[in-house]
Amino acid sequence: MKGIVVYDTSYGNTKTIAETISETLKESGIEVDAFYVKDVKKLSAKDYNFLVLGSPTKFGTMSFTVKGFLGKVKSKEWMNKPFAAFDTENPENIERNEGSAAEKIAEKLREKQMNQLLPVLKAVVLGWKGPLQEGEIERAKEYAGRLATELKR
Ligand SMILES: Cc1cc2nc3c(=O)[nH]c(=O)nc-3n(C[C@H](O)[C@H](O)[C@H](O)COP(=O)(O)O)c2cc1C
Repeated sequence: MKGIVVYDTSYGNTKTIAETISETLKESGIEVDAFYVKDVKKLSAKDYNFLVLGSPTKFGTMSFTVKGFLGKVKSKEWMNKPFAAFDTENPENIERNEGSAAEKIAEKLREKQMNQLLPVLKAVVLGWKGPLQEGEIERAKEYAGRLATELKR
C-alpha cells in the first residue's frame, strides 16, 4: 500500500503537520510520498492507494493552490479510494466553528466519491505565522496512528 500526502504552507506549520502524519504512517509500515502542493506536477491514481490532503485555512477555506490541486484529482481515477483531510487554523476559528480548509477539502473529495476514513484534523496555529499550539504535533501523530489502523482494515 502506498499513499500520497500533499500539503500547502506559507509559514511551515502545515508542512510540519504533513511531515508528522507522513512519518507516523511510515513508522506503521505504510509507504508514503509527501509533496508540497506546488511540486506535484502530475498526479496519477495508479501510483497511489490513498490521499491525505492538507491546507492552511485562509479566509475560511482552503488555499487557492489546494483548490487548483483538487482539479487534478479526477473522480474517475480516485473514486472509492480512501482519503483524509487536515488543516491549520487559529483557535478562535475553531471555537466559533467558522469555515475550515479541511472541512471544505473533505466535502470536495466526498463529491468525487472518495472514501473519508476519519473526521478531519484541525491543527491549532497561533496567529498567522504560528507556532503550532503545544500538543498539536502529538495530536497529529495520534491522528496518523488512527489513519494507519483504518488503512490496514
Ligand atoms: C491571508 C490569510 C488569511 C487567513 N485566514 C484565516 C481564517 O479565515 N481562519 C483561520 O483560522 N486562520 C486564518 N489565517 C491563519 C492561517 O490559518 C495560518 O496562517 C496558517 O494556519 C499557517 O499555516 P502555514 O504555516 O502552513 O502557512 C489566515 C492567514 C492568512 C495569511
